Amino acid sequence: SVSEWSSCCSSHYVQRSYSTSGSNPERKVAILGAAGGIGQPLSLLVKLNPLVSSISLYDIAGTPGVAADVSHINTRAKVEVYGGEEQLGKALEGSDVVIIPAGVPRKPGMTRDDLFNINAGIVKSLTTAIAKYCPNALVNMISNPVNSTVPIAAEVFKKAGTYDERKLFGVTTLDVVRAKTFYSGKGKIPVDGVNVPVVGGHAGITILPLFSQATPKANNLSDDDIKALTKRTQDGGTEVVEAKAGKGSATLSMAYAGAIFADACLKGLNGVPDIVECTFVQSNVTELPFFASKVRLGKNGVEEVLGLGPLSEYEKQGLQSLIPELKASIEKGIKFAHGN
Ligand code: NAD
Ligand code: LMR
Repeated sequence: SVSEWSSCCSSHYVQRSYSTSGSNPERKVAILGAAGGIGQPLSLLVKLNPLVSSISLYDIAGTPGVAADVSHINTRAKVEVYGGEEQLGKALEGSDVVIIPAGVPRKPGMTRDDLFNINAGIVKSLTTAIAKYCPNALVNMISNPVNSTVPIAAEVFKKAGTYDERKLFGVTTLDVVRAKTFYSGKGKIPVDGVNVPVVGGHAGITILPLFSQATPKANNLSDDDIKALTKRTQDGGTEVVEAKAGKGSATLSMAYAGAIFADACLKGLNGVPDIVECTFVQSNVTELPFFASKVRLGKNGVEEVLGLGPLSEYEKQGLQSLIPELKASIEKGIKFAHGN
């Protein structure tokens, strides 16, 4: 869980000691796009994770500086550095988890779908290499539009004969992180221990926070408060894009969210029980082939896709209205993967 990992993470800051590997197995995590706005702080956070024995930093440019810097941190993970397409195979070989924050971010006025034309091609080439060099790795897709890049990856893997639906994840953890923060702020309850499932997809109205299932309950929230919280969660990415005013989108909070999700994947691989996170995966929860919901993680990735649970009337409406947009984004990804 977030609190568990963050307390483990902060203990590194405090103790400044080598993390002991203990009985943790060797685990290699590759970060594709490691020199970017997300990639850099994500590399830092993954380097601090004691479950990681090797961290492979790959980008088309700029990895030597990031790797030299991060490699001086006295934690368990050994840093490998790769740059340029000819080194992508080596970067991926032996990876247990591959995190993909490669691609262009939004500027004010853009939707995530406006990134499709550039990022779809990047994701297609990176996932083609994953199919070749580490077909068993768990893939954590951060590149936007997630609602389309995950279906692209699935089609690439199917074509290569390596698709395992248990091992492909769209990272929607930032939506959960935001929902928790906003809910605890509005409800005036301590943020530690707050839980809010977020389902659907990762763009605008396809992001559906389920505040009716939030724990612990904040008792003072009206229907209008819940509507405002829902909208703020859905527009959280845009809030950051506008505040950065042309200098990109969320990077620091995303790195945090990405590190939390990768940590959950590693714990699942290591056999830690009851690891549950919301993530965008192949799904039977709705009529759509991909959908974000709570998922239990295990030794092979997805162990169980959990259902939606009871929804409020407002959430039921939100679910109905998101289906057409999410469906179109999924289909766009599938079509791209076949057409190119
Ligand atoms: P950025 O431009 O700062 O960094 C992107 C990095 O990707 C750059 O270093 C670039 O060199 C690298 N890159 C480009 N093509 C590559 C390739 N073929 N192989 C490897 N690396 C390549 O952007 P950012 O702010 O880090 O955002 C990256 C992506 O993450 C964007 O698409 C953004 O929309 C998305 N994002 C997703 C979430 C989410 O919740 N899933 C949150 C924030 C951002
Ligand atoms: C986010 O939610 O912050 C990301 O998807 C980036 C964006 O474009 O909003």
